[in-house]
Amino acid sequence: MVLEGKTALITGGSRGIGRAISELYYQEGATLIIMARNEQKLKEACAQIDKEHQGRVHPIACDVGNKDSIAAAFEQIKAQGLTIDILVNCAGINIREPLETFSLESWNKVMDVNLTGAFLITQACFEFMKDKGGKIVNIASLMSEIARPTIAAYTASKGGIKMFTRAIAIEWAKYNIQANAIVPGYIATEMNTALIEDEKFNKFICDRTPQGRWGKPEEVAAAALFFATPGANFITGQVLAVDGGILASL
Ligand SMILES: NC(=O)c1ccc[n+]([C@@H]2O[C@H](COP(=O)([O-])OP(=O)(O)OC[C@H]3O[C@@H](n4cnc5c(N)ncnc54)[C@H](OP(=O)(O)O)[C@@H]3O)[C@@H](O)[C@H]2O)c1
Repeated sequence: MVLEGKTALITGGSRGIGRAISELYYQEGATLIIMARNEQKLKEACAQIDKEHQGRVHPIACDVGNKDSIAAAFEQIKAQGLTIDILVNCAGINIREPLETFSLESWNKVMDVNLTGAFLITQACFEFMKDKGGKIVNIASLMSEIARPTIAAYTASKGGIKMFTRAIAIEWAKYNIQANAIVPGYIATEMNTALIEDEKFNKFICDRTPQGRWGKPEEVAAAALFFATPGANFITGQVLAVDGGILASL
């Protein structure tokens, strides 16, 4: 129970990687605040995570791509008397369009959620962390390091989140706030359903990954737990790949 007594805010915690992180943090004793847009699915997820009915999982519906929605969510957090010790910026979206016709609307949508949202949420957490310290875990991507066609906005946003992590790490080190990023490889979640079902793409991923398979959300959660524990108190500004070896290979 390494997170007993801690409260973690996890954006995008209703499914996929964020859900696996929420479940692991819960098992380790944390109180959770989980944000996602779909309120019904969020409430169902929170009820399922709080298996022991301890009232330790708080759903806060929020669109992290919208600053008014973020402001309203933080009002709710304060009204409920909750605090925040750990922040996991996990909410993310991807839109695929060829670069030459990539629309500004799609570009802004992806940036608003993946990068600006993480910035605004991080900033809003400062008042909870400035006196007692805190841990911030940003979910980056292979696209923080390498690129593929048709996902220019996603790639730029994930490159941005990697460097934003370092910006937090150096500027808030004096507040005892540590910020690190995780680069998941190809992880089998809802976001990738179409890719997993695409035989050719699936083969490409398995051939391209030295470990020969898709990763599991729990495998990313294990790294997110480490960064949130006191064992990582002197680790900040780091980027850890959980990718079955993709970035190590040509
Ligand atoms: N899966 C992978 O292979 C992979 C690889 C590298 C990086 N990542 C990153 O890991 C993160 C999670 O990916 P995933 O595969 O677990 O995705 P997912 O299964 O699609 O889950 C996304 C989560 O984010 C929430 N979300 C999406 N847009 C939101 C918004 N505007 N405001 C608040 N919540 C929002 C979703 O809930 P609602 O829809 O209800 O809002 C859901 O809880 C993303 O940042 C992604 O870029 C994933």
